[in-house]
This record gives sequence, C-alpha cells and structure tokens, in this order.
Amino acid sequence: MRNVHGSRVGAREESRGGSGVRGKRVLVTGGTRGLGEQIVRLLVTEGAQVATCARTARDLETLKLSLRGEDGGPLFTRALDVTEPERLERFVAASAKRLGGLDGVVACAGGSHGGGFERTDAADWAATWELNVGHAVRLVRAAIPHLRDAGGGSVVLISSISGWKPGPPIQYGVAKSAQIHLAASLARELGPDGIRVNAVSPGSMLIPGRRWDRMRQEDPERFAGFAAAELPGGEPVAPQEVARVVAFLLSDWSSGVSGAHVPVDRAQNAPSPDGY
Ligand SMILES: NC(=O)c1ccc[n+]([C@@H]2O[C@H](COP(=O)([O-])OP(=O)(O)OC[C@H]3O[C@@H](n4cnc5c(N)ncnc54)[C@H](OP(=O)(O)O)[C@@H]3O)[C@@H](O)[C@H]2O)c1
Repeated sequence: MRNVHGSRVGAREESRGGSGVRGKRVLVTGGTRGLGEQIVRLLVTEGAQVATCARTARDLETLKLSLRGEDGGPLFTRALDVTEPERLERFVAASAKRLGGLDGVVACAGGSHGGGFERTDAADWAATWELNVGHAVRLVRAAIPHLRDAGGGSVVLISSISGWKPGPPIQYGVAKSAQIHLAASLARELGPDGIRVNAVSPGSMLIPGRRWDRMRQEDPERFAGFAAAELPGGEPVAPQEVARVVAFLLSDWSSGVSGAHVPVDRAQNAPSPDGY
C-alpha cells in the first residue's frame, strides 16, 4: 500500500508495533564508527537491508562480521572516500543493485579540516565543505533515480548542533548549516516525487575514544565545567538516541515530516567549551 506521496505505507509494521524500517533498503555513509555505526546496527537489527561505506576496509569487515545473523540479511559494504565523486556514485549504483533498490539514504560521514579561523586556509574550508556538503549533494543526486523507482523515499542529512549554534571551528559550522538549508530546499524540490528530506542535528555525542569521551577521561574538570554550563541534563546525547530519530525519519511513521531540521541534543546550549 502506498500513501498519497507514493511511498509505501508501513501498515504491517504499525499493526505489529515495529519500528517501521523492516524491509527498507537503506544506504548510510560512514557506518563503521560513531553515529553511523549506531544507525547501521539499529537498521539491521530492525530488519532493514543496509549498505554502508567508510575508508577503512578492515573496519567494514569487522562490522559485517559482528552483524552476521541479524534480521536484515548481509550488510553490503565498500571501502571508499565519499569525497571522490565517481567512487561514491558507483557505490550508490552498486548498493541499489545489491539491495534490489533504495528506499532511503543517510549522509552521515562528516567532520572538519583545519583549526581556528586565522589558522585555517582555503584548502581546509574546501575540504570541510566537500566532506559534509559536497558528499551529501552527490549522494542525493545519485540516489534520486532509485528513490523514484521505489515510488518515493526518505533522505536524512546528518548536520550538527554546530550548524545552528555558533561555535568553532567556523568552517565546520558553516558546512553543517548548509546541510540544514540543503534539506529544506531539497524537500521542496523532491517532494513531487514522494521523496522526503530532513536534517538531523546531534548535540555533542559521547562516543568511546572520540573527542568528548577523551576530554571526560583526560580532563574531567573541564568536561564537568562543559556539562554544567552547556548540558542541561548533565550528560551529552548518546549516538544510539540520535540513531533512533534517524530510523524514525527513514520509516513510514514519519511520512508527514519533510524539510524539517530535527535537533537531537538534550537541549544543549553551546556546541563546545571552546568559546563564544
Ligand atoms: N561526534 C559528535 O559529537 C558529533 C556531533 C554533531 C554532529 N556530528 C556529525 O555526525 C556525523 C558522524 O560523526 P561521528 O563523530 O559519529 O563520526 P566518526 O566517529 O568520526 O565516524 C565517522 C565515520 O565516517 C567514516 N568516514 C569519515 N570520513 C570519511 C570519508 N571521507 N569517506 C568515507 N567515510 C568516511 C569513518 O570511517 P573511516 O575513517 O574508515 O573512513 C567512520 O565510519 C558527522 O557528520 C558529524 O559531523 C558529530
């Protein structure tokens, strides 16, 4: 059954209380660590068929092995850099072939190049833009024919609290801000095809071994000051909490949501303790 926008209505899912992603064919970039890994794990365990990529082949193998036997079937993976346009486009085509089509894509790979404003050059700005915005644009463009073939679909762009609340590094915030605009504009552009587009902005996530976790372990006083000043609940949001919102936006439960910017940050104030 399809809704008025042409996307499949998850009536079966609703009746048995599922998360609404069972059977969905979803491509997620940057799926071996952090938020991307949690999105992939959640989708696969909820019965979606998933393709993901990262630059490090070994990490993709490890992820695949750890998910073997889960409901969603074999995970399709490919090692590539999302800033290499042709490789990304070939990956989208190969994923659609392997999964038998695409119902959703998540632009999750992202990050920042360079340091503070006066120590950052044009190459850092360009690289940060390419990693966050350039890759998202090419991903969506390559996915459109497959989403159309599916009768519609859902696109989620992973932005950041830094995309709407000022904080250094500026080149990162500017690129993340552009992703929020991109989602709102694409939602209008692709709405007639039944393709929904939303942006999700995580707060500072506590990811083992990454920035905030390292700060918590190496400089607990600074972390406690950050938490007291900026995190009303005293704790950063967990990547698993963000992944659940992404899964919702990929599911038919969110069929009425498009062009939205969805912060998932437990009402965090500033994005970091580094200023402003
Ligand atoms: N961490 C936070 O607190 C936070 C807060 C707000 C928003 N975000 C956003 O959330 C998203 C995920 O962040 P995260 O911190 O979870 O990421 P992460 O831990 O740095 O993981 C990034 C993932 O993307 C892959 N990746 C990175 N660069 C890539 C490239 N050029 N080509 C292909 N794959 C690439 C990594 O694998 P390889 O290294 O093997 O390529 C890894 O699988 C990003 O868009 C980030 O901007 C993060």
